[in-house]
Amino acid sequence: MQTKFLLNYRNYVLGVDTEIPLANGEMAKAINFDNAATTPPFVSVMEEMNNFSKWYSSIHRGTGFKSQVSSKFYDSSREKIADFVHADLEKDVVIYTKNTTESINMLANILSKNKTNHKNVILSTDMEHHSNDLPWREKFVVDYVSMDMDGRIKLNDLKEKLRKYKGKVRLVTVTGASNVTGYKNPIHEIAKIAHENDAEILVDAAQLISHGKIDMQSYDTIYHIDYLAFSAHKMYAPFGIGVLIGPKKIFNESSPDFQGGGTIELVTHDYIKWADTPDKNEAGTPNIMGVVALVESIKTLESIGMSYLEKYESNLVDYALLQMKRIPGIKFYINPVNNIDRVSIIPFNIEGIDHFMLANILSKEAGIAVRNGCFCAQPYVQRLLNISPKEMEARKKEPKSSHPGMVRLSFGLYNTYNEIDILARALSHIAYNKKAYIDKYSGF
Ligand SMILES: Cc1ncc(COP(=O)(O)O)c(C=O)c1O
Repeated sequence: MQTKFLLNYRNYVLGVDTEIPLANGEMAKAINFDNAATTPPFVSVMEEMNNFSKWYSSIHRGTGFKSQVSSKFYDSSREKIADFVHADLEKDVVIYTKNTTESINMLANILSKNKTNHKNVILSTDMEHHSNDLPWREKFVVDYVSMDMDGRIKLNDLKEKLRKYKGKVRLVTVTGASNVTGYKNPIHEIAKIAHENDAEILVDAAQLISHGKIDMQSYDTIYHIDYLAFSAHKMYAPFGIGVLIGPKKIFNESSPDFQGGGTIELVTHDYIKWADTPDKNEAGTPNIMGVVALVESIKTLESIGMSYLEKYESNLVDYALLQMKRIPGIKFYINPVNNIDRVSIIPFNIEGIDHFMLANILSKEAGIAVRNGCFCAQPYVQRLLNISPKEMEARKKEPKSSHPGMVRLSFGLYNTYNEIDILARALSHIAYNKKAYIDKYSGF
């Protein structure tokens, strides 16, 4: 029997005791295994939202005392963010956006503005979320680094593609951790390979940021991460803030994507002098409360210690895999034996039950929230499910409800072994009574 690494972060998070109705009319405590989509708020974040509210005022637009306090907090918050991921504020800028998707779109637009024919290729990978794939497609030639049998990206293929495009690759854009399999990518090794080939690297840190330490490393090393994007709502701070970090120089070189209030130094009818970044890249009234929440969530994560949290979550995964392996007909889309370098995500199916139905049964019968489908990473899921491009062609006309997919568990620092026991019992019951469940839930 595996030793359980016991830590109790239950009290850190709001909503862990919320009761929800089951199909049989009884009430049960909601179990949330859908943290990769979004995390519940930290108690500390909600308290700080209240505390800060008495100072809440406009940013960069007022001479009133409260406005000065709010503006000062807003401006200095960038140091906290930079410190958390070891960005270098002498050279880097921390830009606030809405979320990771907006951050990546912003970078794609900026890079496409100073694109040259010599550098018009973006290398993405087979495992990306749509948010780190689609923004690049209409602006650059995009190619994808392929994956091995387990679904991990092949560094040899990255090297080969960099050779093939002979210095034309502007950027290698890669997820820090997959939102489907949880596989972590060797981002510093990838940075080295990109830099050796005169390309830069963007790390989509949406799934990595709240599960382990990120270190962008110094500009002086070949392992340096050039750009980083992430969302606060996946780190226990659900108030609509995202982050894009990258070299100031790049953002100061071109006009901003969104233009308007807050982005300029001087305007006449025929002249614009843009403000320096980050102001020029944060059009309109800034989301100060989102920033308050993010800063507080970082403080809380640091007080826990990212390495403790990583160890605890990894133990939850090991425990869950152990329980789930016993369930008849279970199919994992990770290699459960090679369970290293992953964040706390488990993708699976039970043979003979549709993924949508299985997720629905878990919700209605056991009060367990999971995600099902393709998790905004359709090309990756199609490959993991072994669906050929030809078959996908034939399925293009099918309704969304019959699309292939899987079920995803994703754990947060507040989930428990006991919750996993409840899941394992529920899955086992479903697997042994498949026909009865299918009859009950067909047509739901
Ligand atoms: C790996 C990855 N990248 C990007 C995103 C997009 O994040 P957001 O919806 O916060 O923009 C997600 C969201 O699930 C993700 O998992």
